[in-house]
Amino acid sequence: MPVLAVVGGQWGDEGKGKIIDLLAGRAHVVVRAQGGDNAGHTVVNPRGKFALHLVPAGIFNEQTRCLIGPGVALNPEVLLGEMDALAARGVSTDNLVISARAHLVLPYHPMFDHLDEESRGSAAIGTTGRGIGPTYADKVGRVGIVAGDLLHPDRFRAKVKLAVDRKNVQLERVYGKPPINADEIVTTYLGHASRLGRYIAESEPILEQALREGRTILLEGGHGTLLDLDHGTYPYVTSTSCTVGGLLNGAGIGPRHLTTAIGVFKAYQSRVGGGPMPTELVDETGDHIRDVGHEYGTTTGRPRRVGWFDAVAARHSMMVNGFHSIAVTRLDILDDMDEVQVCLGYEIDGQRIDYLPSQIEDLARCRPIYEGMPGWRTSTGDAQDWRDLPKEAQSFVRTIEEGVGAPAGLIGVGQEREKTIFTGALP
Ligand code: IMP
Repeated sequence: MPVLAVVGGQWGDEGKGKIIDLLAGRAHVVVRAQGGDNAGHTVVNPRGKFALHLVPAGIFNEQTRCLIGPGVALNPEVLLGEMDALAARGVSTDNLVISARAHLVLPYHPMFDHLDEESRGSAAIGTTGRGIGPTYADKVGRVGIVAGDLLHPDRFRAKVKLAVDRKNVQLERVYGKPPINADEIVTTYLGHASRLGRYIAESEPILEQALREGRTILLEGGHGTLLDLDHGTYPYVTSTSCTVGGLLNGAGIGPRHLTTAIGVFKAYQSRVGGGPMPTELVDETGDHIRDVGHEYGTTTGRPRRVGWFDAVAARHSMMVNGFHSIAVTRLDILDDMDEVQVCLGYEIDGQRIDYLPSQIEDLARCRPIYEGMPGWRTSTGDAQDWRDLPKEAQSFVRTIEEGVGAPAGLIGVGQEREKTIFTGALP
């Protein structure tokens, strides 16, 4: 009974959507286990190009159940918009299931996200503004409201009223803002519930049955390990655990069921928002990679910061996830470079180190130590096999594999599903 986890190895936007879409064909259940609509997965398949935020990327296979798991922060309005957009393009969402335990993003969460960011001034995190941090803060503070509450209007109303009373104290006294109205929120959300209610279910029996029947379950990671709340570049992180362990927990599957963990890494590096990024390129090369790779946020449209592949950060991801294999995506974006580089160490205070410092103040002082390699200056887009890749591209991928410490089972050479090389290293 294979359980596969697909996890971002960098700062998100590694191209997980494509890998998940590819693997979803073999999955009985695909689970989004953590994060919310701050994540954006781009999928290009025979039905077109889709930007998904909450709906699991397994939605294109009608026989696959797509579960929004207990660990997700769910904005019902965003989900309904996404479902309508899919329906308008002929994609059915009948197989969607929403865990009754998923916490709801309420209208005051994005408000507080913006207010918190403003109050941080120059230390702002650069959040997506989707209210994800405040939703999880309420969850941890045990005042959150869950999807299951939508099925019980009286309970829902009482919980919203209590929460809004508390939020209004903060809004008025801390931020000097006008109070919000609980009744409006209740009316709007119960309206959403009339459409979403039939999808809300207890998710544990569904997963337990799939495991018992030996079905394949695919855990779809959001964001990336370097944005993980515990293991990332704190505080410039998102508010969930984006690692393999986080996915198992967010889905509600015990670790003994996991069979394969795949780390997804772009052939270079990107980051949206603030925080240190040792290999960032703030020059023409960076602009070039950003343009060729269309490196603009799926969720916010912000230009992404780009840089060379950072094997030190990648090794950190490997340590905290224990990937069986990796997927190297977007190799084709580097096709026209004269030279390509991989960061194999950092220099700090005259010393070479090969680990990611836990303190961002130290990480910000790290200078990358690169190994430069000749580029391949030829299109890889039509390569279907490892042997079709130019030898310079092969040695670049080998350097990444050695740096991460795991074999590349998949190599992406274009946006479409079929532009993927399976090397045979996928367990
Ligand atoms: P939040 O998740 O909106 O709170 O934002 C926290 C940080 O994580 C910001 O730097 C965001 O840009 C970043 N972030 C959150 N989700 C993603 C993602 O899916 N891809 C890339 N960056 C993300």
